[in-house]
Amino acid sequence: MKIINVVGARPNFMKIAPIMESFRATRAIDALLVHTGQHYDEKMSDLFFSELGIPQPDVNLGVGSGSHAVQTAAIMQAFEPVLLQHKPDAVLVVGDVNSTIACGLVAVKMGIKLFHVEAGLRSHDRTMPEEINRILTDAISDLLFCSEASGVENLRREGIPDRQVHLVGNVMIDTLLRHREKAAASKVLEVLGLSAGGYAVVTLHRPANVDSPGILRPIFNALEQIARDMPVVFPVHPRTRERLSAFGIQSADGQVRLIDPLGYLDFLKLVSAASLVLTDSGGIQEETTILNIPCLTLRENTERPITIESGTSQLVGANPAKILSTYRDLKTHPPRAAKPPPLWDGHAAERLTRIILETP
Ligand code: UD1
Repeated sequence: MKIINVVGARPNFMKIAPIMESFRATRAIDALLVHTGQHYDEKMSDLFFSELGIPQPDVNLGVGSGSHAVQTAAIMQAFEPVLLQHKPDAVLVVGDVNSTIACGLVAVKMGIKLFHVEAGLRSHDRTMPEEINRILTDAISDLLFCSEASGVENLRREGIPDRQVHLVGNVMIDTLLRHREKAAASKVLEVLGLSAGGYAVVTLHRPANVDSPGILRPIFNALEQIARDMPVVFPVHPRTRERLSAFGIQSADGQVRLIDPLGYLDFLKLVSAASLVLTDSGGIQEETTILNIPCLTLRENTERPITIESGTSQLVGANPAKILSTYRDLKTHPPRAAKPPPLWDGHAAERLTRIILETP
């Protein structure tokens, strides 16, 4: 069985790594890798291939940045000839980025089976580009692999037949568990002059948080308040870097430390030893759940409810007063310990491989 696997943006890389490894371990699957080039900076892409041992892509579409329509259309146009040339039996897409829906749509229109990994997650917020990508990709997929039970319920409610839906666990956590030991050896704390358990980590990149100065500036002011208590380290996504500079937002006393994006191992080490994480990333909500690190999620909703029910994540939105009051509460009331969600055990990729091989 020939499967073309697709990656495009940073969060896709940690998801595809264990899947490629598992596919290549079975002789029954001929696995090719296509990189759309949605993310292309060394620190947003190449670094992850070397650190996670992902094979070099067989094809790189080199699409780059653009508006949603331009980027999605460019990926579709570039992907179609790849399918014509390689004639795969199936295309596998992960996550919810523009590359996911673009390649999925091309595949099904050519009568090629589509597998979606991380299916069924719903924020129920259609202003998020990712929510549209998720709904559409799930609607056209043949096999849907869910990371948590809420995904299975959402798909059932949307009328996807049960036989197509499989709860397999979380491939991103496969990668985390596989690299935890290696990450422990990272020297990132020494390089940044931080001591374990004595700092906060921030990431922000969602358009809803970073695209408007009226929202980004108050969030930044709240981070500066926290930085009076402890160092705040902020590896900045290129989109956010551009917005901070356009809005003239800077750390007044240099307390919020803006640094370049980190590679996977350094970032895992940084989060593992933090006393607190503030983020709007879905993947980091999942990682802090497994690492048992308190996570203030700067969103009004989440498509990953399990990170709230059994993890360490709390939704605080973008309101600075709420961010700061939750932060203060955390200092006086340490959060309960997280409980690893079912099947977040390092074997999700093996499970989905078995299901693919057993499905006629
Ligand atoms: C994309 C995904 C988002 C995911 C995020 C992770 C969509 C709709 N969004 O958002 O779901 O959480 O990736 O990072 O697919 N840029 C660079 N170098 C790069 C990549 C991007 O400088 O390697 C800059 C460009 O200015 C670009 C901007 O970042 O215009 C946004 O990139 P884009 O891929 O459009 O969206 P993200 O915000 O990264």
